[in-house]
Amino acid sequence: MGVDRVRWGIVATGNISTSFTKDLRLLDDAVATAVASRSQDSADRFAAEFGIEHAYDDYRRLIESGTVDVIYIGTPHPQHYEIARTALQAGVAVLCEKPVTLTAKQAQDLVAVAAEHKTLFAEAMWMRTNPVIQALFADLATGVVGEPQQVVADFAFHKPALPARLLDPALGGGSLMDGGIYPMTFAYMALGRPAELKAVGSLNADGIDLNVAMAWRYDSGAVAALTCGLKSQNPWVASVSGPEGSLQVPHRFHHPEYYVRHTAAGAERIDVPTHGLGYHYEAAAVMRALRDGHIEVPSLPHTATLEILELLDETRSQIGVRYPGDDDDLTG
Ligand SMILES: NC(=O)c1ccc[n+]([C@@H]2O[C@H](COP(=O)([O-])OP(=O)(O)OC[C@H]3O[C@@H](n4cnc5c(N)ncnc54)[C@H](OP(=O)(O)O)[C@@H]3O)[C@@H](O)[C@H]2O)c1
Repeated sequence: MGVDRVRWGIVATGNISTSFTKDLRLLDDAVATAVASRSQDSADRFAAEFGIEHAYDDYRRLIESGTVDVIYIGTPHPQHYEIARTALQAGVAVLCEKPVTLTAKQAQDLVAVAAEHKTLFAEAMWMRTNPVIQALFADLATGVVGEPQQVVADFAFHKPALPARLLDPALGGGSLMDGGIYPMTFAYMALGRPAELKAVGSLNADGIDLNVAMAWRYDSGAVAALTCGLKSQNPWVASVSGPEGSLQVPHRFHHPEYYVRHTAAGAERIDVPTHGLGYHYEAAAVMRALRDGHIEVPSLPHTATLEILELLDETRSQIGVRYPGDDDDLTG
């Protein structure tokens, strides 16, 4: 007999669910046992593609089926909250795509429900579990560039036909929630939560943010300059710098293959072997935490999820982006 395999349920059959489920096959101790979609046809098609035993036309049926230990949620952001809450209340662990919710208040509620039901909850911020990113931040912690003073990062992309959900307010559209969360997370990993943030944004007629620039200031004196957008093909790079040099991450900095350390010793390219698309690292981290009986994944901490969502709330408020549910009172 092999190792006991963790049973995964996949909720939604779109782009990211497909990528995640492909990568799950790289883990010997993981198996996708169920999938849920809004339509039975899509669930059946996805199940056939990945050899998944159970297919449901409703995520609630998947959660209640007893066929999974953990679900992965790959729906648009506004649907995350209700699905995650239902699973946590049923004692089914949750790995949910970023941003886990539209508001910090919703995420705080999910963390509380996870604690109440002693069930694991994690945001699928896959950049945090990428081996290159982990090596870079371990390097930074040694003081190789001195005390970090500046972070610069951008995440703007453009395609002639953008996926419809990115331009739909009802689906949590906009560059900030989809892309901006990455430069924000990079700066947060380097410098922590800022003392002050200022943001400007250009919105379209539907109130969707198409271009955003953020400036963060720290009491230490450090600053971060971050951008995101849906109208330009940016370098998509990130760096963290101090008096002794900088650590620079190339194009697609959120899942890099290497970074470059610039110091007085010169420029050194640091390669870290990676494989797959990069989503199995977060899945493996979830499974380690499950086996250790944790409700939180050390590399995907609740505090980071909550604080980034608070910063997203503040940024949206400054640039005027509103979503359904912004005024919901979850305390009642
Ligand atoms: N980590 C990453 O690299 C990464 C990359 C892209 C996106 N994401 C995140 O993943 C989430 C989904 O993004 P995606 O690009 O995979 O989107 P997508 O291709 O549009 O897929 C989303 C899926 O969600 C399901 N869904 C449930 N309710 C829906 C609704 N009201 N409208 C539309 N679809 C609905 C649909 O599956 P069914 O038809 O089967 O129900 C749909 O195929 C977002 O939160 C996004 O931020 C993460």
